[in-house]
Amino acid sequence: MNLKVPTKIIFGSGILSRLKEIIEEEFRASRVFLVTDKGIMDSGIGNLVLSQLEDTQVFDEIEANPKSPTVDRAGEQVRKDKPDLVVGLGGGSPMDAAKAIALLATNKGHIKDYEGKRKYKFPPLPVLAIPTTCGTGSEVTWVSVITHPERRFKMSIKGPEMFPAVALVDPDMLLSLPPPLIASTGMDALTHAIEAYTVKGATEFSNNFARQAIELIFDSLPDAFENIKDNKKARERIMSGSTLAGIAFCNSDVGAVHCLAEACGGLYDLPHGELNSIFLPQVLEFNLPVAKTRYAEIARLAGIQEKDESLASQELVHKIKSMTRVMNIPSFQDLGLEESEFPDIASAAFQNNSNPSNPREVRYEDYLEILKNALHSS
Ligand SMILES: [Fe+2]
Repeated sequence: MNLKVPTKIIFGSGILSRLKEIIEEEFRASRVFLVTDKGIMDSGIGNLVLSQLEDTQVFDEIEANPKSPTVDRAGEQVRKDKPDLVVGLGGGSPMDAAKAIALLATNKGHIKDYEGKRKYKFPPLPVLAIPTTCGTGSEVTWVSVITHPERRFKMSIKGPEMFPAVALVDPDMLLSLPPPLIASTGMDALTHAIEAYTVKGATEFSNNFARQAIELIFDSLPDAFENIKDNKKARERIMSGSTLAGIAFCNSDVGAVHCLAEACGGLYDLPHGELNSIFLPQVLEFNLPVAKTRYAEIARLAGIQEKDESLASQELVHKIKSMTRVMNIPSFQDLGLEESEFPDIASAAFQNNSNPSNPREVRYEDYLEILKNALHSS
């Protein structure tokens, strides 16, 4: 039984104000390459970071579901700039892109050449990750998910040297996060924790992180959605839940929910957190015959008192559906996909590397069925 947590996590409200000092202490870096997106630069967080750094190049063109041509463009820039540290600032997209760009800084070619596990020759540059949402866990994982536009496919690029060296996790980053993003990224984190707890590769080590994350997220997400500005406790609990969920799934895996979400994200460029919210209850229902005991344990962590395992699991599914309704997360129908597109989605989900990890075997036909159920779900 192994446990990987190579990233140093520096956690605390307001900790971003110590960025300069942390970079000096942890990296002794003099030249920084900042990877982020335009939204972060416009929100003022970018300036808060830049005001503490002297010799910094900024690449702020990262889009949602970051695309390989964008990462390759940043790769060319980073090779010219020759920094000694890459900082990834934002949600999962900028942080995943930062890991990929750090890889391209020390290795030639395009990011698609490095799809898979440890395909690089030289270790990437060190990465400092600063999450600004409460969802992806990318600050503590070894994977970078980059979309290949021609293949309409989300590539996974990973390796033991791709863990960020430091995660600077400041719950105050959530102060200006709009409620729809709190909802979707929070549900992404919850999906990480639940899938990590139930996949075939789960261990007692990973389960400890998953259990704590499940409890924290169920407890704090409704309050965080309601009013994050005036609730420091909710900010801290949802942010730590998200990071702990990242550690959990990086040490076990994700399952069929993420297989479907990544398939739809790659094919139709749809938001990852919303897709997970839509597919989570459907996949829970599909897995019930083999994962009832685990789901009943999760139900207890979610505050459900029911003792009977089947009833507790069903209550858990209802609770998740009602959370997504209360937080106005779009339904599958709202995303506008047609049934004629389901074979492509099912095929991509089936081919996902995480498909074999799901607690119940999921065949291509099962994915089609889950998609139909999601479309007709109320
Ligand atoms: Fe995710």
